[in-house]
Amino acid sequence: MAFSFNFDLQIKTGEPDNEDTTQKEQAHEAKQVISTDTTKEGTEKVKAAKEHSPPLDYQSLLENTVCETFSLGTLPPIHYLNESVFEQTASELIDSEKILSQTAAQHTDLISGVYEGGLKIWECTYDLLEYLESEGEVFSGKRVLDLGCGAGLLGILALKRGAREVHFQDYNSTVIERLTVPNALLNCEGDDDGDEHDHEKEGEKDSSPLAKRRATDPLQHAKIAKCRFFSGDWTSFLPLMLRSDPPPKYDLIFTSETIYNTAYYSALHEVFHRLLAQDGLVYLAIKAHYFGVGGGLYLFQSFVEEKDIFKMKCLKNVEHGLQRHVVSLSFKKSEKPTNV
Ligand SMILES: C[S@@+](CC[C@H](N)C(=O)[O-])C[C@H]1O[C@@H](n2cnc3c(N)ncnc32)[C@H](O)[C@@H]1O
Repeated sequence: MAFSFNFDLQIKTGEPDNEDTTQKEQAHEAKQVISTDTTKEGTEKVKAAKEHSPPLDYQSLLENTVCETFSLGTLPPIHYLNESVFEQTASELIDSEKILSQTAAQHTDLISGVYEGGLKIWECTYDLLEYLESEGEVFSGKRVLDLGCGAGLLGILALKRGAREVHFQDYNSTVIERLTVPNALLNCEGDDDGDEHDHEKEGEKDSSPLAKRRATDPLQHAKIAKCRFFSGDWTSFLPLMLRSDPPPKYDLIFTSETIYNTAYYSALHEVFHRLLAQDGLVYLAIKAHYFGVGGGLYLFQSFVEEKDIFKMKCLKNVEHGLQRHVVSLSFKKSEKPTNV
């Protein structure tokens, strides 16, 4: 099944209309350089978790943006902001964490402890979307967490496919405020299966950017009310969630490309342990190995086995390019998730 990327607005710098998936994947793969040269400030303190509410003035979030649509087989179309345009047009004013300038200066897609890569859509996200499509997954009534969400495509899919509630978490507040929230808003208006495609097929292009057209009063829409957004380190996110009364228990946790750094395994595993419902499932989409950082499937698998709380199941292997996998985690039958 082929992916399709539809650019809703042509970028002036000559971005092609129908970029082929392979090219797009290769481009991302090539750019995904990981830096461990962390700044002193970045590594000294844990980024405190906080909740973000979608702003009332959501239109300003979509100014100077370009919207793309990801379509795959039977999946509903998923709209998202074009990342390169976002990076080119986002000003320092909206980037209080200064992650755009730091990644540009260091020519890297990830600075451990400072910026954890959420402004790009990483290729394992597409692997998991493809897996969910092939399985015909629906999420009716489910409570879902998109952990380390970045652009949030996985959580957005769950939202569009009937999830009762979707929580999005990313390390960086800039990512949540400037990318995840706008993307969720873009997908919250109207019955989204095909209306804009009909226009495009007939060549009836509205002169205003699609991103803006689509975002007419999305806060009134029931879908956005099902979403909550969080930023911060997992070691701080977990206590924040546990302070809720009652703490959430997720039926599904999606997490893509989040096991590259072994230093984070304990915090990541603890989030799964404390926040997954007894019969819940974690879907992880991951590379076999992350060059430059050292994490990967086999190290994470050893970690999970040593903890002896979850069983891991391999759902899908992707052999072309860098070896990638989709795996699931579920509680071993004897394990009771802890509330405190
Ligand atoms: C490489 S990005 C992947 C983004 C997105 N899931 C994707 O596949 O496109 C890794 C994500 O993991 C999250 N992350 C990594 N380490 C984290 C940590 N210690 N605490 C909180 N979030 C973390 C960040 O939010 C970051 O966006």
